[in-house]
Amino acid sequence: MAQQVIDSPTDIDTVQSIVERAFPRAPGRAGDEIARLELLKQLHTYYVGYISGPENFAKIPRLNLDEEIRRIEDRWLHWADDRVNSFELPDEAQDFHDWFLSVADAHTQADFNEYLAQEASLEEIALFFLAEELVDSKFDDLMAMVQIGTQGLTKLTIAENYWDEMGEGHLEQMHTRLFDHSAKYMRERLDAVGFDYSTLQFSQVYENASLLLAYGIHRHLNPRAIGAMGVLEQSASPRFQAMVDGCERLQIPEDVIEYQRIHVHVDADHGAEWTKGVFLPLVEKSPELLRQISLGIATRVQVANDYYSQAWARMKALRS
Ligand SMILES: [Fe+2]
Ligand SMILES: [Fe+2]
Repeated sequence: MAQQVIDSPTDIDTVQSIVERAFPRAPGRAGDEIARLELLKQLHTYYVGYISGPENFAKIPRLNLDEEIRRIEDRWLHWADDRVNSFELPDEAQDFHDWFLSVADAHTQADFNEYLAQEASLEEIALFFLAEELVDSKFDDLMAMVQIGTQGLTKLTIAENYWDEMGEGHLEQMHTRLFDHSAKYMRERLDAVGFDYSTLQFSQVYENASLLLAYGIHRHLNPRAIGAMGVLEQSASPRFQAMVDGCERLQIPEDVIEYQRIHVHVDADHGAEWTKGVFLPLVEKSPELLRQISLGIATRVQVANDYYSQAWARMKALRS
């Protein structure tokens, strides 16, 4: 469990200096990747612990009580916000829709998708699939968390999306189960070639998952979670299609491809439904809400872009 008791000022000073190294305040400074990996892993363990099931109730951390976690989280979330300074956020609700579509469109990762579809080896596809595990294996819980407190059409839209995650009521079709089935196959392929799993240990993989978890868990960040989940859905279909094409090219069995195949169309629908049922009613409510939703979209895009480019570099490194 990530909770650590800090009982002396010296400890807190040490934590603060590691935090500053990992997430530097000076713009353009890269920071310390090893420190960042360690801190984001710590946060990720904490968040996953927080959403663990009833059987683990005794180990579930209390929110906001751990001073160390609070310091890491506070600095990291500011650091993530600083990286989206170049995004021009919409000022008016009426500008939101066009802005969102153009941001989501630019986020579909066309070059990466082409690589997945046409060039990536089985090991590279497997590496990427397992890098996705930190998000995809928790996706139904992430979806459930954004539904809390919404109303009417917004609640119903998220409920329909959640029902798809539940395989429309069929246990074997639950998306997390389909994902686990494919992940097992991918892991076996990597085991067979003696894959070094430390390749999957990079800060961006933890940041990518932790951003959605942090936004979902902290109720005051809920508009950001709604933004982040919406842009994820809107931009996911082409990547799933690329994975299907890549898997077919490599003659990966159909039952392993099913997870990706169903998301090509399901997520295209989710993206459109989210715009109509979730975004448009909410961004009308206030300029502050519009801004928080837009910030959730921008930070998700930035964090995911950094994650995809690092995952891609690690995939290509398997070839040499
Ligand atoms: Fe899904
Ligand atoms: Fe979806």
